[in-house]
Amino acid sequence: MKFSISAKKNQQTVRDAEVLCISKGTAKAKIFTVLGKKNSDLAANLSALAQKDDKRRFQAAIGTDTPHRLSVWCLESKMDLDVLEKECASFTAWQKAGNEARIIVYLDGLSKKDALTLLPVLMKSAGNTAYLPNTLKTRDNDETLQEIAFVTEYAADAAFQAVFTQTDAMVRAMNFARNLSDLPANHCTPDYLAEEAKTRAIKFGAKAKIHTPDQIAKLGMNAFLSVAKGSNVEPRFIELSYNGAKRGDAPIVLIGKGITFDSGGISLKPGAGMDEMKYDMCGAATVIAAFCAVAELKLPINLVALVPTCENMPSGHANRPGDIVKTMNGLTVEILNTDAEGRLILCDALAYAEKFKPQAVIDVATLTGACIIALGHVAGGVMGNNQELIDQILNASRTSNDKMWQLPLWDEYKEQLKSNFADLANIGGRPAGTITAGIFLSHFAEKYPWVHLDIAGTAWNGGKNKGATGRPIPLLLSFLVARAQMSS
Ligand code: BES
Ligand code: MN
Ligand code: ZN
Repeated sequence: MKFSISAKKNQQTVRDAEVLCISKGTAKAKIFTVLGKKNSDLAANLSALAQKDDKRRFQAAIGTDTPHRLSVWCLESKMDLDVLEKECASFTAWQKAGNEARIIVYLDGLSKKDALTLLPVLMKSAGNTAYLPNTLKTRDNDETLQEIAFVTEYAADAAFQAVFTQTDAMVRAMNFARNLSDLPANHCTPDYLAEEAKTRAIKFGAKAKIHTPDQIAKLGMNAFLSVAKGSNVEPRFIELSYNGAKRGDAPIVLIGKGITFDSGGISLKPGAGMDEMKYDMCGAATVIAAFCAVAELKLPINLVALVPTCENMPSGHANRPGDIVKTMNGLTVEILNTDAEGRLILCDALAYAEKFKPQAVIDVATLTGACIIALGHVAGGVMGNNQELIDQILNASRTSNDKMWQLPLWDEYKEQLKSNFADLANIGGRPAGTITAGIFLSHFAEKYPWVHLDIAGTAWNGGKNKGATGRPIPLLLSFLVARAQMSS
């Protein structure tokens, strides 16, 4: 998907449709400049219609001297992000269905504030609608949206350009993450994931270190290795680092759960829908993609991405219920259910993160089915040990309309993780399953401000529209851009 912004409409631009955006109450003069003199009657009519019409958007198919479709959007002065996003999504779906690959969107009829609101929302919708998975079908149907050319008098404005560039990178990051996530586990193995991450990180000038099983063992990541050893494919520990701020400035660390397939292990999952457990690496994909977007945008922050990645499989080498392992930070864990494997790989990554003396750590994981029971497929769960950091995440969630909701990590919940034989049990029973998973992780994140994002319900869609969503990349980038602004 190609996006561009320019101040003037290029007469030569090939397009299949045009969209004229008007803020409610905008002076007519602006619309004249957009449509040109000879269409002034039409512009006046449209403008009058737009002023009258209470609906946010209406489409007027006109047959005068434009061979393609011309739509007019009237935006209300107070735009609700949710409504706008849905409108943009239905518009881009309609555009795709009508084979309108290239469109021109005139923003000149909008106030600057409205233009700045609409631009990223429309780009995100178009980018997500245009997405085609790298299907392994022998016959591909690859007709999709190709290009949106925005025409706006704000083209040279610094704030406008920043939003444009950031959203452009975000859209590409979401595409990349969705593609990795949609790949099945026999294609997207831990080694494949690591190589993809490394290639992309290096492409954008960042560094990559891929730890092999021997090196992971030397680090003492026994909980992580205990999950990996049930599978025939080797685990990897991915470490990406980017220096956009002063060398020595404390970095932000992102951690992603990279289970390329979660069968449950010996505590085997039921068969129905088990294919969807190829998505258990969505946290990893979004973290890698967001990291690379930061490097591409050259944001003035130091950033590290850590991804423990392996399969969770049943075999003669697999963890047994009751097995006890010693984690990297020394705590012992009784594995009462081998299907609670996410926390076992994340706890070692959290312990490893200490060595960076990070200013903040954010882990992203498809961690608990209980999170879907609590928040459905609408919002992810946010937990952490530092309310200021949690509030920054919730703020980023609101500005990017990437929904998240906070759950508490009160001490009372710690009771549920008591084990007779080890420091911690890896499950806490059915009550508050998302929270007890968060509590488990919190024991490994005591040395720094930390936030945990449970994206089990939001990382992919099931059913007929099965596919990864790329969430929470919008939230992560919004948060990281805000941190970059704070520090510069
Ligand atoms: N990857 C799953 C969580 C999951 C389940 C995400 C369904 C999305 C949809 C995770 O590893 C898991 O199996 N968690 C268990 C934990 C339980 C054994 C305490 C769960 O949620 O059932
Ligand atoms: Mn599991
Ligand atoms: Zn899992």
